Amino acid sequence: MNDSAVDTLAEARTESPSRALLEVPPGTGPLAAYERGVARGILHADPEQARAAKRLEVLWRAVGTYRPAPPQARAGGLLGSLKARLAKPPPPRPRGVYMVGQVGRGKSMLMDLFFALAPVPHKRRVHFHAFMQETHKRLHAMKAADPSLRDPIPPLARAIAADAWLLCFDEFQVNDITDAMILGRLFEYLFDQGVVVVATSNTRPGDLFQNRPGADAFRPFIAILQRELDTIELDSPNDYRRGREETGRIWLVPPDARAERELDRIFERESAGSPVQPVVLDVMGRAFDVPVAAGDVARFDFEHLCDRALGAGDYLALAQRFRVLIVDGVPRLGPDNFDVARRFITLVDTLYEQKVRFYASAEDVPDRLYERGEGAVAFERTASRLEEMRSDTWGTAAEADDTAVEQAQQPAGA
Ligand SMILES: Nc1ncnc2c1ncn2[C@@H]1O[C@H](COP(=O)(O)OP(=O)(O)OP(=O)(O)O)[C@@H](O)[C@H]1O
Ligand SMILES: [Mg+2]
Repeated sequence: MNDSAVDTLAEARTESPSRALLEVPPGTGPLAAYERGVARGILHADPEQARAAKRLEVLWRAVGTYRPAPPQARAGGLLGSLKARLAKPPPPRPRGVYMVGQVGRGKSMLMDLFFALAPVPHKRRVHFHAFMQETHKRLHAMKAADPSLRDPIPPLARAIAADAWLLCFDEFQVNDITDAMILGRLFEYLFDQGVVVVATSNTRPGDLFQNRPGADAFRPFIAILQRELDTIELDSPNDYRRGREETGRIWLVPPDARAERELDRIFERESAGSPVQPVVLDVMGRAFDVPVAAGDVARFDFEHLCDRALGAGDYLALAQRFRVLIVDGVPRLGPDNFDVARRFITLVDTLYEQKVRFYASAEDVPDRLYERGEGAVAFERTASRLEEMRSDTWGTAAEADDTAVEQAQQPAGA
């Protein structure tokens, strides 16, 4: 790593193809948009992706005509059943799609293409971590508002479905038993409300939350996913995040005094003279302290961020509040500190999803940071993402992408 490499940050480089892919005539489906992207040289031709795009095209057609039955028809009752009998039978709910595969295969790219083109007014695309955080928050609030409410899951499912009946989840994964306990019933009710689901994941449905305490109780949820969604595997040999031109490296090895000075400079430049001060974030009523912040830039020592009891909620709050995160001293990790590695994985996933610019000094390159230990396989995705995030245009081109998606993402009535 040298100074001039960092100084070239402003230069352009090959960027994520997502925006250009959406330059299509109205009424274009995901398969045609994909093929057009290949023909225009925006995408490499990839038979596995083409197969997935074909399946998404089928769903795209189906969601164009499908509408969930209105709640009163489902709610039953005399009026409801009379109306239901008089009305034409509603089109059946289309089967959703669960795209699974290794990192960087284009699952999110395809889902985002599908999502952007889906002719559905009430649709929502959300990272699964964020969705689960929100779910816990809402369940909590519903119980607090009405202590006599025994089971908040059905009304929550109705509220979610009323906002959006097409739900696209990026990075479906089940990390803990609290999520596992809620998911089965929540999704059963969501499907009952006529919701259509598309998801991307690195884990096949049958492998979700397996080999963990409580895995047995989780099986019915796996069965629901398998019943409601078609699993599509993306198995191409390419990790498209790799091999891009990298002019501006923002991963400084080793974490020595020179790297620290470099990060000081980056901090100053990114914060553009805003005063440096500590910030306290509120995470569901709990205080999460950010010792060094300036404007929308935060800086941490690695230990302070990943070697104490912080979780997905804290990282999400951090990523939503700050545009740039700087971390000093990422160590090499091993089997003895798998929990630290797991937090770092969650952190990087969250930063990636929220398009936060990330700078760090570290003992090694991402690929070699965590080679052995629980979750070392999951770390491959982290390394792949760090590769993509350390490119110049990360967080700049990406920010512009976001606005387009966000508008479509707004739940109805929000
Ligand atoms: N056929 C392709 N040609 C060129 N670039 C591609 C192609 N497919 C995907 N990409 C790009 O490669 C990067 C990785 O793709 P994407 O994020 O969709 O992978 P993923 O399968 O979701 O990975 P992960 O499991 O880590 O989430 C993205 O920037 C994407 O736009
Ligand atoms: Mg992805």
